[in-house]
Amino acid sequence: MSRILLTGGLGYIGSHCAVELLENGHEVVIIDNLYNSKVEVLDYIRQITSKEAVFYQGDCCDESFLSDVFSKESIDAVVHLAGYKAVGESVVQPLKYYSNNVNATIALLNAMKNHNVNRLVFSSSATVYENSGSYEKIEKDKLWCTNPYGFTKMFSEQIIRDYCVSNQSFSAINLRYFNPIGAHPSGLIGENPNGIPNNLMPYIQQVAVGILPMLKVYGNDYDTVDGTGMRDYIHVVDLAKAHLSAISYLLENDIKGCDDINIGTGKSTSVLQLVNAFQKANNITIPYVIVERREGDIANIYADTTKAKQILNWQSKYSIEDMCKDAYHWQLNLQKKRKLL
Ligand code: NAD
Ligand code: UFG
Repeated sequence: MSRILLTGGLGYIGSHCAVELLENGHEVVIIDNLYNSKVEVLDYIRQITSKEAVFYQGDCCDESFLSDVFSKESIDAVVHLAGYKAVGESVVQPLKYYSNNVNATIALLNAMKNHNVNRLVFSSSATVYENSGSYEKIEKDKLWCTNPYGFTKMFSEQIIRDYCVSNQSFSAINLRYFNPIGAHPSGLIGENPNGIPNNLMPYIQQVAVGILPMLKVYGNDYDTVDGTGMRDYIHVVDLAKAHLSAISYLLENDIKGCDDINIGTGKSTSVLQLVNAFQKANNITIPYVIVERREGDIANIYADTTKAKQILNWQSKYSIEDMCKDAYHWQLNLQKKRKLL
């Protein structure tokens, strides 16, 4: 049993990580500034696990706040999820993104250094891969980004790599997530984006319950199975379990340095395939219209998952059908809660 700090631990992925860690006997300390989450999530984590996570509200860029938390808590390892994640907003407000995402990583590493905490798992993204060559991405492929959000991930990865070189006691894993979707099967935690969703699954969910009238499918002339864009969708619970594996790997082995590991299923699904799977799994109709391609989108991308299997002994278990069912269940529960308010 270890004591794990989750930065951004009340967010979509962080809350699922908290559940997996608590259910597997770890203690969990959460830092979140509630920029994109609500404190109620703590109750839902408690309801699912019957265990308590310790919560500190504060900003990860604030080194003295981090230092206080590290002084009070005896932390064995950190999962660093705190950050802004809206790609479009990052193009319009790049400084906001560099300032929050890169500074949070630096402040955290400084605090870890000062408190001799030497194990880190970082939330990176498949968006760091250059859009060239094969659709299947392997960790040693070339990195380059098309937007400031992506660069904050690429730079944070590099900062972590450089710090590992300078401190022989420190080890880290950059987990490169592909496309996390779905929700906890309890229906208590999931993703609840502000405003109109940018991402496909949250958009489908809102069409499914009548918040939005129809899905816009961005282009059907890509070089893919049916012309629509393809992505490697991964159930958020599988993704959370990958964090558990990464933490265990770092704590149980005398690892040196920094590694990058893809977290996906290894296969991609098209927009129309996902729409059809959602309709079938939930026995409902999702109206859609084909519109122009979205600027910056790529045809297809999926993970080579060999390294995750070999190093972390992890592989995804949930199917696209599970992802669709759990996403809809969560969205229906959200609607019920809204009506009660
Ligand atoms: P999220 O917005 O739901 O969670 C991030 C949490 O961090 C939020 O609760 C927010 O309030 C908090 N936060 C942001 N800045 C903070 C700061 N300076 N100090 C303290 N708390 C702060 O996002 P998510 O989907 O759970 O993503 C978690 C991480 O995974 C992010 O770093 C994101 O970039 C990365 N990621 C997400 C995806 C995805 O599709 N969801 C894909 C790849 C990588
Ligand atoms: N799409 C639609 N209609 C929509 C939304 C999306 O047709 O309303 C299509 C897109 O064109 C794309 C696919 O659905 O073909 C997936 O789009 P998402 O926006 O759901 O996901 P992206 O792969 O574009 O990007 C997401 C996150 C990034 C992250 C990346 C890889 O937004 O932050 O996954 O992890 F970097």
